[in-house]
Amino acid sequence: MSTLWHGRFAGGPAEALQQLNDSLPFDQRMFREDVAGSRAHVAMLGSVDLLSSNEVEVVLAALDAVEAELANGSFVFVPSDEDIHTAVERRVTEIAGPPGAKLHTGRSRNDQVATDVRLWTLAAIDEISELVVRLASTLGRKADAAGDHYLPGYTHLQQAQPVLLAHHLLAHGWALLRDIDRLADARVRVDVSPLGAGALAGSSLPLDADLVAENLGFAARFENSLDAVSDRDFVAETLFALTLLGVHLSRIGEEFVLWSSTEFGFVSLDDAFSTGSSMLPQKKNPDVAELARGKAGRLIGNLTGLLATMKNLPLAYNKDLQEDKEPLFDSVDTMRLTLLALDGMIDTIVFNHEAMEKSADSPYAAAIDLAEFLVARGMPFRDSHAVVGGLVREALAGEGALEELVAQHPELGPDAAALLRPGVPVQNRTTSGGAGPAAVATQRQRFAEALAARVP
Ligand code: ARG
Repeated sequence: MSTLWHGRFAGGPAEALQQLNDSLPFDQRMFREDVAGSRAHVAMLGSVDLLSSNEVEVVLAALDAVEAELANGSFVFVPSDEDIHTAVERRVTEIAGPPGAKLHTGRSRNDQVATDVRLWTLAAIDEISELVVRLASTLGRKADAAGDHYLPGYTHLQQAQPVLLAHHLLAHGWALLRDIDRLADARVRVDVSPLGAGALAGSSLPLDADLVAENLGFAARFENSLDAVSDRDFVAETLFALTLLGVHLSRIGEEFVLWSSTEFGFVSLDDAFSTGSSMLPQKKNPDVAELARGKAGRLIGNLTGLLATMKNLPLAYNKDLQEDKEPLFDSVDTMRLTLLALDGMIDTIVFNHEAMEKSADSPYAAAIDLAEFLVARGMPFRDSHAVVGGLVREALAGEGALEELVAQHPELGPDAAALLRPGVPVQNRTTSGGAGPAAVATQRQRFAEALAARVP
């Protein structure tokens, strides 16, 4: 078997080394990026007269042919195709003849692979961001449709205060907008061309890294060749943005798992987005929500795995860095599937407003409104808290219904008791960004504007 480095070696690689070393099984999905990088490199070599215009033409035509073969599945890999870079160069040389042997002039797989991964990551960020925009707009639509319906808001998973359903849905929506911003911010640091760094130190040849960067559509070129080939911050940052997004989806998933349970009964899932049980005929399971919850573990693993790989690596390129691609690809693939399924599940979900409101209508959830009623009449909050706490204790001890105790209380009375009526407490959440109808109407408007500003 003839390797790219056969000149220096008397013998071929051991089978065990080859299997460990080969990245072709997973990096061949970057073939378009690899060909794009080679096109830009060859064009640059032509512009600095390292290749004649005829040689450039021949190699570009061969690159077109190789890309077509890879795209239509007719490309035949050979055992020495260690990675996609090796495979493309080998085939280009077969097709182009001697000019093909000039393709790798002034280039190393070290700057080449960094270029490919960056190009792949830019497209992946754009695709995932679009899907997050889609999920956020589904949440926005559901919030608009929820009107003034409300449900219990929780702290410690104990009922705390009623909140509008729209408010609850948009809480997740705002987190997704931050995820979109985080991906966009990471993208800025992905958008840098490493091509021209060579193996680690640049070249004696008159390469033009600016031209290559421009041809590939990168916003900038590298500043330091050692950094260019060893930097995988952009992968780590992208993985972090995806992981935090995954953590957000896991929290959404967890709530829908709870809400779809018989005990809550807050939502019914569409048949298309739930599964049955192989044994128990009555079951309808929230698998999409559970997987949205579960996939976060895998995303966290991919991020921490990559950070562990990067830790302690000396400059510049080390083969350890070949371990960057599988977690990146896996996290992007995982996120694509999760976002699509969760979006479909939420889009088709039916909210059971009656169950939500019944559950939110406990008079105890309005205890803070009683305390604030007293505050508005001049009582220090700590004292009013104690007064209402005392009434709640009496009601729970069976000394009377809270409404009656409140109505009879000298400092509270019937006006205060009216605050406990179903549907009233949520009306009184009037502050900006709060959970009541007027504030949420403004919020829905602001959310729509913030989302529109992030639509690609
Ligand atoms: N397959 C390698 C990777 O994914 C490409 C770079 C190999 N460079 C090298 N000097 N062996 O990182």
